[in-house]
Amino acid sequence: MSKIKVLMVASEVGPFAKTGGLADVTAVLPGVLNQHQCEVRVIMPLYRRIKQRYEDQLKFIRWTMVKMGWRSMYSGLFSFRTGGVTYYFIDNEYYFGHDKIYLEYSFDIERFCFFQRAVLDALGEPMDFEPDIIHCHDWQTGLIPCLLEAHYFPYGYHRHVKTVYTIHNLKYQGIHGVERIADLCDMPARFLTEYGILKDGVPNLMKAGIVYSQAVTTVSPSYAEEILTPYYGEGLDGVLRSFSYKLTGIMNGIDRDLYNPQTDRNIPLNYDLTNWAKGKAAAKKALLKRVNLPSDGKLPLIGMVSRLVDQKGLDLLLRIIDELLAYGCQMVILGTGDEFYANQLQMVAQRHPELLAPCIYFDSQLANKIYAAADLFLMPSLFEPCGLSQMIAMRYGTLPIVRETGGLRDSVTPYNKYDGSGNGFSFANINAHELLYTTKAAIDLWKERSTNPAWNTLIENAMTADFGWDNAAEEYLKVYKKVLGTQKEIPVD
Ligand code: GLC
Repeated sequence: MSKIKVLMVASEVGPFAKTGGLADVTAVLPGVLNQHQCEVRVIMPLYRRIKQRYEDQLKFIRWTMVKMGWRSMYSGLFSFRTGGVTYYFIDNEYYFGHDKIYLEYSFDIERFCFFQRAVLDALGEPMDFEPDIIHCHDWQTGLIPCLLEAHYFPYGYHRHVKTVYTIHNLKYQGIHGVERIADLCDMPARFLTEYGILKDGVPNLMKAGIVYSQAVTTVSPSYAEEILTPYYGEGLDGVLRSFSYKLTGIMNGIDRDLYNPQTDRNIPLNYDLTNWAKGKAAAKKALLKRVNLPSDGKLPLIGMVSRLVDQKGLDLLLRIIDELLAYGCQMVILGTGDEFYANQLQMVAQRHPELLAPCIYFDSQLANKIYAAADLFLMPSLFEPCGLSQMIAMRYGTLPIVRETGGLRDSVTPYNKYDGSGNGFSFANINAHELLYTTKAAIDLWKERSTNPAWNTLIENAMTADFGWDNAAEEYLKVYKKVLGTQKEIPVD
């Protein structure tokens, strides 16, 4: 059977550019799908850091001018093959010659409008690859299905190409004024309606992806259900409900090579199921020393590796953190984000210098040390499309405490004290005291660990849970096959 040719398009792809989980997913999924009847190639912007880092390895393919309203913008196309995957990069100094991936809101809209048009311009002959499917991720690529219908299909180009759109986080939608989008994208009027890309009178790139793609996926089955409700729908639940026939929730996996306590060089002693107690004890001692917290072995250590934004439930934590620390535990929190949360955590640390270490920066090596060293891992998210940290923590034998939402609900089975089953702890409502009581119960179980085998069993269950990518790959393959079987009416201009 011939392979399904897929072009993945994203604003972040690990290891080239990363701010969050999107990059983790786009880093691994192409390679995995390539082992499942697909030939996947990837295209992304050539941000300054990628240019600097991979300068000698990037292969220049061609340059052209991309039309955007009254402007014509230079667009370079480069490629680079690594790990069995071909990557393409769109070059434009004005848009992508910056250290950061995301800049100012309105400029980002323009940057990613350019990117999407440049991607479609490079399709086929220039990149020597005509995909069967374009797989788009998040709002930065949401217009691609619509742009195909606007500028290519009516003129006989790429008419067989189908599109799949994956929502990693519905909250960020890419919303901007009608005139601007019409101008930047030369968008014909027939798309600028509430049936098309407009939501409440303004273009919404996330909505465009949902409306014009042939299949929509999101990153866990529970989130796929939640976003059909007003509470989680971010204003798009109505749109999603009317297109729910093409929505599937596919749980992400984690990179089991990158996150492997048996081989991880960031921890003092590698471990597996047979010697985790020793390995984790060594990791804990080393981490506490590194973050300047005293270690006497009497307190459990709670870890958190998170963007510091409200989605992650930091308000719940701040409400009860003094009481929690006073109950008897230490905490290490690593992440960057809102200044407000960073300041609040620093203030808590001033009150409890021996108990809390806030590390307000990003350091992936320190992250791995925390995954290994902690006894418990906190993720009280208000919503969580999938969440990767809870799965990584479990692989390192660190028990997650999560709110039952989205992918957290789908990956963590709460401890059942009657039959001892489970691989973590969870609570149902957005309620600080539910978080507090659940965490206290987890601490109590930790304290009993020399007499009650439940704790060790939970750790072993967590470490052996299957969070690989094979299942997801099979599911994506099903979506691809379904989409390739669909017929589409192509409007003629
Ligand atoms: C986004 C979501 C997160 C998910 C990740 C990868 O960052 O917030 O829950 O794990 O995308 O899909």
